[in-house]
Amino acid sequence: MRVVFMDTLAVCIIFRGLWNVPFIANAYLVNATVLKRYNRRQLNFDKPNLDADMAFCSNLRELDVFMYVSNRVDYGHLINPDTYDVTRTEPDMYQIFDNAIDWEERYIHKEYPENFNPEKEPKQPCPDVYWFPIVSRKFTRALIHMMESFGKWSSGKNEDDRLEGGYEAVPTRDIHMTQVGWDKHWLHFLDKYVRPLQEKVFIGYSHESPRSLMNFVVRYRPDEQPLLRPHHDSSTYTINIALNEVGIDYQGGGCRFIRYNCSVVDTKIGWILIHPGRLTHYHEGLLVTNGTRYIMVSFVDP
Ligand SMILES: *[C@@H]1O[C@H](CO)[C@@H](O)[C@H](O)[C@H]1NC(C)=O
Ligand SMILES: *[C@@H]1O[C@H](CO)[C@@H](O)[C@H](O)[C@H]1NC(C)=O
Ligand SMILES: *[C@@H]1O[C@H](CO)[C@@H](O)[C@H](O)[C@H]1NC(C)=O
Repeated sequence: MRVVFMDTLAVCIIFRGLWNVPFIANAYLVNATVLKRYNRRQLNFDKPNLDADMAFCSNLRELDVFMYVSNRVDYGHLINPDTYDVTRTEPDMYQIFDNAIDWEERYIHKEYPENFNPEKEPKQPCPDVYWFPIVSRKFTRALIHMMESFGKWSSGKNEDDRLEGGYEAVPTRDIHMTQVGWDKHWLHFLDKYVRPLQEKVFIGYSHESPRSLMNFVVRYRPDEQPLLRPHHDSSTYTINIALNEVGIDYQGGGCRFIRYNCSVVDTKIGWILIHPGRLTHYHEGLLVTNGTRYIMVSFVDP
């Protein structure tokens, strides 16, 4: 006869095994023969001066029913529903802190770990412009959905009251992460998933946590803003994630690095471009001739 208990106790993560224990709580797996063998009077969770879980275990001990902690089989993991907010558009996107395992499973590109394969050279479509798979299609769809349902795209004018100085020299049609309450999440994403890539290709440059004040999704389309004139970014390095597909969702577009006369036009959905910001990589957003192009941009370490 046995009662098996499962939980993610720290000890169980380190060692595989089965432990006979005097007390269990929270989650029980009970062999039905135990329930059938004893009556309600013997098998209850009522005892003077004891909490229900203590009383239950005490009764089991008296009946010689053994209790075990087991982690021999992976049954999955518990999710934390505390901060799940159904009023959000794409509530799962906001779970990067509280349900990190599920978040990563859902939103990180399946090939992301391969970026760290020492046998593989990182892709470099233009000098010092690196290219990595980073987020899943679910992520790209969710982020566009968050932005389009929020809907307050900027005017594309120089005056921008979302910025401290109230002025943007090279304005785009965009929505900032702060506007959809996703800035802390984004900074965490930068630290956890982008920083290791940056450290891999720009060796010797490292910051405890990447800082970034300008984090936004840009929308390019022919009838609104179809391109972006040449500019420098106010960043140490800039990241640019393609959120939809060239040739399918839009025609044209891409990024041209003027100093090298080098363009990245065959952008790949869910892939990130990382390039130096303010000195060597003077660049422009190429003309979108049809459809809508979305990119996610951050100016890291301004
Ligand atoms: C449940 O208990 C019965 C009786 O002790 C035993 O024969 C059976 O193997 C147990 N089942 C499991 C899944 O442990
Ligand atoms: C830049 O590249 C394009 C296409 O690769 C080429 O047609 C053009 O002549 C180049 N311009 C300069 C100034 O080298
Ligand atoms: C323009 O985009 C629409 C929808 O995205 C598509 O149906 C159409 O074929 C495209 N036109 C051209 C010329 O590519």
